[in-house]
Amino acid sequence: MTKKPQRYTITSALPYANGPIHIGHLAGVYVPADIYARYLRSKGEDVLFIGGSDEHGVPITIKARKEGVSPQDIVDRYHNIIKKSFEEFGISFDVYSRTSAPVHHETASAFFKKLYDEGKFIERTSEQYYDEEAHTFLADRYITGTCPHCGYEKAYGDQCENCGTSLSPLELINPKSALSGNVPVLRETKHWYLPLDQYENFLREWILEGHKNDWKTNVYGQVKSWIDQGLKPRAVTRDLDWGVKVPVEGVEGKVLYVWFDAPIGYISASREWSQRTGKDWQPYWKSTDTKLVHFIGKDNIVFHCIIFPVMLKAEGSYILPDNVPANEFLNLENDKISTSRNWAVWLHEYLEEFPGKQDVLRYVLTANAPETKDNDFTWRDFQARNNNELLAIFGNFVNRTLVLTKKYFNSQVPPRHTLQEIDKETLDSLRTFPEKIAESIERYRFREALGEMMNLARLGNKYLTDNEPWKVFKTDPQRVETVLNISLQIVAALSVTAEPFLPFTAQKLTGMLNIEPLKWKDAGHADILSAGHSLGKPAFLFEKIEDAQVEAQVQKLLDTKKANEAAAAPVAPQKDEITYDDFMKMDIRTGTILEAEKVPKTKKLLKLKIDTGIDQRTVVSGIAEYFSPDEIVGKQVSILVNLAPRKLRGIVSQGMILMAQDKDGRLVFVSPEEKTSNGSEIK
Ligand code: MF3
Ligand code: ZN
Repeated sequence: MTKKPQRYTITSALPYANGPIHIGHLAGVYVPADIYARYLRSKGEDVLFIGGSDEHGVPITIKARKEGVSPQDIVDRYHNIIKKSFEEFGISFDVYSRTSAPVHHETASAFFKKLYDEGKFIERTSEQYYDEEAHTFLADRYITGTCPHCGYEKAYGDQCENCGTSLSPLELINPKSALSGNVPVLRETKHWYLPLDQYENFLREWILEGHKNDWKTNVYGQVKSWIDQGLKPRAVTRDLDWGVKVPVEGVEGKVLYVWFDAPIGYISASREWSQRTGKDWQPYWKSTDTKLVHFIGKDNIVFHCIIFPVMLKAEGSYILPDNVPANEFLNLENDKISTSRNWAVWLHEYLEEFPGKQDVLRYVLTANAPETKDNDFTWRDFQARNNNELLAIFGNFVNRTLVLTKKYFNSQVPPRHTLQEIDKETLDSLRTFPEKIAESIERYRFREALGEMMNLARLGNKYLTDNEPWKVFKTDPQRVETVLNISLQIVAALSVTAEPFLPFTAQKLTGMLNIEPLKWKDAGHADILSAGHSLGKPAFLFEKIEDAQVEAQVQKLLDTKKANEAAAAPVAPQKDEITYDDFMKMDIRTGTILEAEKVPKTKKLLKLKIDTGIDQRTVVSGIAEYFSPDEIVGKQVSILVNLAPRKLRGIVSQGMILMAQDKDGRLVFVSPEEKTSNGSEIK
């Protein structure tokens, strides 16, 4: 785009409504998109910032089936959690819609119909896997099997999550239905394909030639490799009953492929926004003086750079994205973030556990943004960045400036007097920051931009420390007036330049400065606050994050890891064969626990008195970590009575209680299902 855009359409990948939002989503997509949108608004630009839930696709139907609820129940649940957490986190969408909304079904349906009527699709009948027991075709993730590339046994019909290769169901070795576990059969079915191959020249010209220099290298590289490998027609319909129905007469049981309907969701969301605000949505999608930018993660590149643009091009009336600044992935404590393994920091939980600390997470995720390579989030880094950067630099500077102004000048902005060299240098430097930060943001380099914003806070902090107003006040109060005036101008500039990154902090700052939020253009002139202006009350912007808080988070992750390992561990292998006589040597009886008490100075042992039907005897049992004495008295259990007596902690144990132990080590009693008389033989 060479002319200055008249308006901006900013989209952020629509998250699947089958799980909550985690820090990976935030760092990759929503935080950078929000910084960009807030910055542009601060510049006075016309912005439409779009979000919404992606509510179709096979994984949602599989989850619904597993839980015995409807797909609509699943998406309602997660759409609400996601929407609320975005709001609380300050993601400033102009609209947050959803693809199960009627406006979306109409929009996507009409889009498909237009391409269909104009003959833009290819119709093809092919053989696809069918589950004869479930009476249904098996789309994408309903098929699992062995990956032909890496041998991973749980690859899906559309992708192997082990090696990342995108697959078609027919490539899988030993295919199995995810519904019944049966081997599927092949049946003929008709689908519509978008002939991507016919658009190769368009894509080459538009991206490979047109955006060689302004698109990120990771994005450009992926697109180029896709095109160079040869584009093939791609099916845009599926045999499925959850999604946007294929709007063709006589066609039943088919819906649009989720990756066909979801990006149209951006347009549907714009129409919903239009209905609500009364503004026209069309310029945001159809005027060539609109700049369209898609914020996505790297796994979405092909869909936003190839498939969706081809759809838009085929339709004919839409603009194409000016840029697609896709990010790499964020890891968590050196491990891939995963919804199914619960390896994540969930936004809705963070908001509960760190109330009022939205900006800390926004800061850490931006400072660590995976812009050019995968990056790692650790709780130690989170703590360090809060304590050593936000608190020690930004917060400290602002607080010292406001507290000193209150102390010396009753919170009135003091005047400036004759400027020394250091004052002039500081003011000159201040004036350069808004432009520097803006340049980085406009090139989608948000970490760099954040770094510059922090450099402005560093400038203020250093200026204050170098001039030591607290030492000078007694002898030269006029000098202190100048120093604090300049410091306050820096605070005011921060209230503007920090806003895209730290919106909650910026709002507190304008409150403390007692000013209306300013625009970006105000930030660079060093006379935002005039002498005599009354400031508001100083307050702390950040607070220290203690070791205990991050240790609790690390512990939570360790617990998750343990649970995952236990779930993945195989059951113990079978022991060596024994004879019937071997078994019959054991004398196992039913008995009732009469008394129970902890064996002093041990963690695991309980001393039990048991009525075995034969006698009443003492048994020492290693179950104290799982049961309290009170809860087991009166319980009927199974007991091996002819085990040779053993001395444990000075107590003679005469027998052994039978317990079942699961993979986590958890113990449960092996008790008769109904009460029976003590001394019954178990055989
Ligand atoms: N739901 C997809 C994902 O999480 C993103 C969809 S983006 C859209 O990967 F453009 F299709 F909406
Ligand atoms: Zn593989």
